[in-house]
Amino acid sequence: MQKLVPLAMMFAVSPLAMADAENDLVQQGKYLSELADCVACHTTDGGEPYAGGLSFKTPFGTIYSTNITSDKKEGMGHYSFEEFEKALRHGVAPKGNLYPAMPYTSFDKITQDDMRALYAYFMSTTPSSQPNPDNDVMFPANIRMGLKAWNLLNHSPQEYVADSSKSEDWNRGNYILNSFGHCAECHTPRDITFAMDQEQHYQGAMIGNTWAPDITPETLVDQGWSSEDIKDLIGTGYSRKGTVVGEMYTAIYHSLSKFDEKDLNAATVYLLDSDENVEGKPLTFNAEANEGEGYNLYMGYCASCHGVEGEGKTNFAPGLAGNGTLAHDNSVNLMVATLYGIKPQHYSTLVSFDAMPGYDKDLSDSELTELVNYLKAAFTPSSIRFTEAEMSELRKEVEENQENAAH
Ligand code: HEC
Ligand code: HEC
Ligand code: HEC
Repeated sequence: MQKLVPLAMMFAVSPLAMADAENDLVQQGKYLSELADCVACHTTDGGEPYAGGLSFKTPFGTIYSTNITSDKKEGMGHYSFEEFEKALRHGVAPKGNLYPAMPYTSFDKITQDDMRALYAYFMSTTPSSQPNPDNDVMFPANIRMGLKAWNLLNHSPQEYVADSSKSEDWNRGNYILNSFGHCAECHTPRDITFAMDQEQHYQGAMIGNTWAPDITPETLVDQGWSSEDIKDLIGTGYSRKGTVVGEMYTAIYHSLSKFDEKDLNAATVYLLDSDENVEGKPLTFNAEANEGEGYNLYMGYCASCHGVEGEGKTNFAPGLAGNGTLAHDNSVNLMVATLYGIKPQHYSTLVSFDAMPGYDKDLSDSELTELVNYLKAAFTPSSIRFTEAEMSELRKEVEENQENAAH
């Protein structure tokens, strides 16, 4: 009898407790996969989640993301933990070296515990039998060998090491943004071998047809971002300083908006490099700029939605006074928005914008120059003004980049 009691207890308690622990691990892995935005790159528009097939242009031709569901044949259901880790941390999958469009140059910083949680989650996803495109034909083995050399040169995987001179929140922010968040993959310029140039971490780079701006703490503070603005923008897609243009929308929609309260705060502490609440600067509106052709064009084309003083309309059009996109030194995103418009952005029932029309056909180079100079003068502290020659140059560049647009 004596032995039966503990045995019965074991059966009554332990398997359930174990199932709970396993379930917790899967849930944790699911959350981490959202921080890492795996779904955005491994799912096509309207396709099965994680079934792959999204195309990426590379200098060697087009490659496709793979099926990473738990399917044993087409997906990664047959992966051991070690194989999973090797793909994420080292960029080496069973089929060979991966192209760095898969951000293993950021995922290498993921801790071993978090890696296990991710693995538990991915082994539990709904399997999809969607076949992978034939990689041997599409992406020859000699290029995969070349990637091996690239890795030797550019990739020395290392788990995140905390900076003991900084706060716990700062370290958490640094960890989640630079491992899972792979913000640097867009916001850091690349050198001639296409590796991220760590000396210029977060200093801004072109991605597709848009500019991922400088998001170093100095620049964000200089541009007037408060702690609240950063939390609003990355957490909900909209802040006092406007919404986003280009690929940042997808990053917020799939990933940043899923950050829990604590991680959102940690991300903000890290981005502004401040444990204190940063106040930010008042939004710019200079009434003295209200004269001349640029002002008339603004009133004619833009003010009905963006407001006479650039104040915007709630849940309809973002404000332009003090707008983050307008204030960048680099004017590519302003040009993309004005010339080609923006597709509707829906973040939640609370924050949602309709499409913005494009004005490429309506504005001559001279009109565009006047309009942009007015926007800069009226709504930003920036002293940048364009001559007509500079504007036609920029317009040409933006036009050529349109073929790289992701959406
Ligand atoms: C920025 C886009 C991007 C993100 C984010 C991304 N991947 Fe990938 N991934 C790719 C691409 C592209 C490939 C194919 C690379 C190649 O064939 O060389 C790939 C390949 C892989 C492979 C290799 C599979 C195989 O069959 O060879 C695994 C495993 C993988 N990804 C897992 C993940 C996981 C897990 C996450 C999230 C933690 C993730 N990926 C996030 C783009 C991405
Ligand atoms: C019909 C209403 C409408 C008109 C007219 C309009 N816009 Fe917009 N604009 C929008 C909306 C809506 C958005 C946000 C779109 C989204 O997020 O999907 C937007 C976004 C923008 C952005 C990006 C702002 C940010 O926060 O990132 C800029 C810049 C911009 N508009 C400039 C202009 C200019 C310049 C004009 C006039 C030539 C203009 N807009 C005319 C509705 C309009
Ligand atoms: C796929 C590319 C991509 C990724 C990944 C990405 N961003 Fe961005 N980000 C952009 C682009 C493009 C813009 C410009 C949006 C605009 O002008 O409205 C932007 C704008 C921003 C801004 C607004 C800055 C300003 O001055 O207007 C912040 C803050 C930001 N990103 C933070 C992040 C963080 C934090 C991450 C990682 C969790 C991240 N981004 C990941 C492309 C990206």
